[in-house]
Amino acid sequence: MSRMVIESSVREAGTDPIFRVAGEAAQRTKELGTEAVINSTIGALMDDHGDLVAFKSVFDVLKGLPDEQICDYAGIPGIPEFLDKVVDACFKSYRPEGHIRAVATPGGTGAVRHAVCNYTEFGDQILIPDWYWAPYSTIADENRRETTTFELFDEAGNFNMKSYKAAFTDLLKKQNRVLSILNTPAHNPTGYSISLDEWKELTAFYTEMAEANPDARIIILCDIAYIDFAGKGEDARAFMPLLSGLPENVLPLYAYSASKGFTMYGLRNGAIICVAPTEEIAEEFAAACAYSNRGTWSNGTRGAMQTLADIMSDDNLRDRFIAEQDFHKGILQKRARAFLDEADKIGLKLCNYCDGFFISIPCENPKAVSDLLMEKNVFIVALAKGLRFAPCAVSEEKCRKAPQLILDAIKEVAGC
Ligand SMILES: Cc1ncc(COP(=O)(O)O)c(C=O)c1O
Repeated sequence: MSRMVIESSVREAGTDPIFRVAGEAAQRTKELGTEAVINSTIGALMDDHGDLVAFKSVFDVLKGLPDEQICDYAGIPGIPEFLDKVVDACFKSYRPEGHIRAVATPGGTGAVRHAVCNYTEFGDQILIPDWYWAPYSTIADENRRETTTFELFDEAGNFNMKSYKAAFTDLLKKQNRVLSILNTPAHNPTGYSISLDEWKELTAFYTEMAEANPDARIIILCDIAYIDFAGKGEDARAFMPLLSGLPENVLPLYAYSASKGFTMYGLRNGAIICVAPTEEIAEEFAAACAYSNRGTWSNGTRGAMQTLADIMSDDNLRDRFIAEQDFHKGILQKRARAFLDEADKIGLKLCNYCDGFFISIPCENPKAVSDLLMEKNVFIVALAKGLRFAPCAVSEEKCRKAPQLILDAIKEVAGC
């Protein structure tokens, strides 16, 4: 029988490599027990026994809400308290100057979707790094756009300005409009964070490009999904004020996600936030994104929005939440340190990791290495350019063990 879906919607089922490896890891854990398996496939905080961490400081608030507040609609753009407080949660003490608006989205994914659909034309290319979170290209493809990549790292393992600027300039020439998605700090999959000096160079570049091309549109989407697990205190937000006061044809946007920071993964809570140079551009942003809400998922999860708003409005609730988040950030940092130290000791080459849930190991034949590791009960995601290890999901002890197993597998696949 002929196909019922339109040509461009013909998809292969069940090919998501992360879910495939994660499924095998879960099966092996069932058979052999947690201790025998290293499951580094999951992009969520897990405790040392492999159970998902759920912040008590968050779920006490959610479960204390009246039923009607949980079940009600949230309004198309999101409830007003949330729209106010999510801006605080995003910027904390580094609130940039500008016309700031937020529109609620189901997680950071929804924010990426709205940026793609409202700030690029059909068929446009969106600029992303060569190490990237795969859903960027899915979102682009689903919405009849494409992605194009620049090299994330230079030879010293820092942000590859040359490659970025060349790709950006090419795209601007072709489209007169660039949407650049920068997942920083604590980039997925490498853990790289763009430094303050690099941000200064980037903003100078945006200014130069915008002034030289006054009809062009430059949109910078900062995907800050992992920001609450980066740096010390609020330092990871220090770049935010640099992204303001730019020419009027540059628009900084933020994809805010409550998934990791509040352990709200499945509650689908987040926002797209603009720091617009004029009130008119901010109003236009809010209207376009609210309309997109209505036309895609209507509105978001009211109970999750209320929970974030309540926590961010009450000093005691917020202090308790920050203390719990900091505790887990500390565990993550110790696990990552154990992996990095061991990798360094044995000569396992890594991408430049600064912060966050993931560490990447560049290698040849990543799929073959991942398959071999699976035989040894080590589950690690194969990417196009290497492997992704997830200290967020693996105990410190196993983080120390993993580098040698990975190095051995890389050598075995390479035949040396
Ligand atoms: C790089 C990156 N951006 C955005 C997200 C958004 O996630 P969510 O839609 O669950 O908030 C994720 C989650 O895995 C991510 O890894």
